[in-house]
Amino acid sequence: MSLLAVAVGGRGVVSPAEPVLRADDEALLRGRAAFETIRVYGGRPFKLAEHLDRLAGSAERIGLPAVNRLELEQLAQEALGAAEVPDAVLRLYWTPTPVSIALVSALADHYDELRTRGQKLISLRGVRADEPWLLPGVKSTSYAVNMAAEAEARRQGADDAVFVDADATVLEGPTTNVWWRRDRTLFTPSLDLGILAGVTRATVLELAGDCGYAVEEGHFGLTELLAADEAFTSSSVREVMPVTELDGAPVARGPAADELQAALRRAAEATLRA
Ligand SMILES: Cc1ncc(COP(=O)(O)O)c(C=O)c1O
Repeated sequence: MSLLAVAVGGRGVVSPAEPVLRADDEALLRGRAAFETIRVYGGRPFKLAEHLDRLAGSAERIGLPAVNRLELEQLAQEALGAAEVPDAVLRLYWTPTPVSIALVSALADHYDELRTRGQKLISLRGVRADEPWLLPGVKSTSYAVNMAAEAEARRQGADDAVFVDADATVLEGPTTNVWWRRDRTLFTPSLDLGILAGVTRATVLELAGDCGYAVEEGHFGLTELLAADEAFTSSSVREVMPVTELDGAPVARGPAADELQAALRRAAEATLRA
C-alpha cells in the first residue's frame, strides 16, 4: 500500500510515520476491528454512506462501541484533503479502544492492465460462514486468511482466488464478489452463504437491469461457474474485473463485464455532478 495521508480521531491529520494505536488495542492483539475500503473518484468517496452502514454493522457484530460516523466522515475529508489526489483508495478503521482512522493510499497502477488482460483465478476451499460466530458478512481486520489465499493464488501463477465451500458451492473471492453470465442472466452467490454484502455487488445488482441482464442470486456449484459464458468479480477498488481463466481452464470474454464496468464509472461520475 502506498500511503498518502492518515487522519486519526481526536488528532486530525498525522504523519503516516506516526503511531496511531495503543499497544493493548485488540485491533492489534486479536484482529478485532471493523474496516472499510472505499474507492475515491474525483476526490469523493463513492457510496460512503453504504460503507459506513456496513462498518456500523460489522462493529456491532464484533462487539465494538457504536461507530462515530460523523467523526469518520470528517477524518475521511481531512485525509483526502491532505492526500490531494482525485482518484485514490480510502480505508476507514474503527477499533475497540475506540480509535477511528482514515487512510488514503494511491490506486495500484496495474488494475487497468489486469482489466484489459483479464484475471486468472483458482478455486480454494474456504469456510462457509453459516453460523453467527463465524461472523457472516462482517468486514473485520482478521484478514490474514484472505491475504494467504491471495498469496496461494499467486504462488500457483494466478491473479486471485475464489473460495468454495466443502460441497464446491461458490462463495466469494478474498476481497471480491464473484459473478458469471449465461445468455442474458447474471449469477452471483446469495448473501445467506455468509459472504460479504459487497457495496459494488449491490451497485452491480442495480445496474444489471439497465444493461439488459436478469440476475439470479443463489447457491451454485463451481461446475456452473466453469460452464459460464463469461465471468467477472466486483469490488470497490478493482471494480468490475473480467475473468479469463479458472483452475487452468479458459473462461470466455463477454460483453457484460465491460458494460457493467462502464455503467459503474458512469454512476460514479454522476455522483460528482450531483
Ligand atoms: C471478502 C470480501 N468479499 C467481497 C468484497 C467486495 O466488497 P465491496 O464491493 O464492498 O468492495 C470484499 C471487499 O473488500 C471482501 O473483503
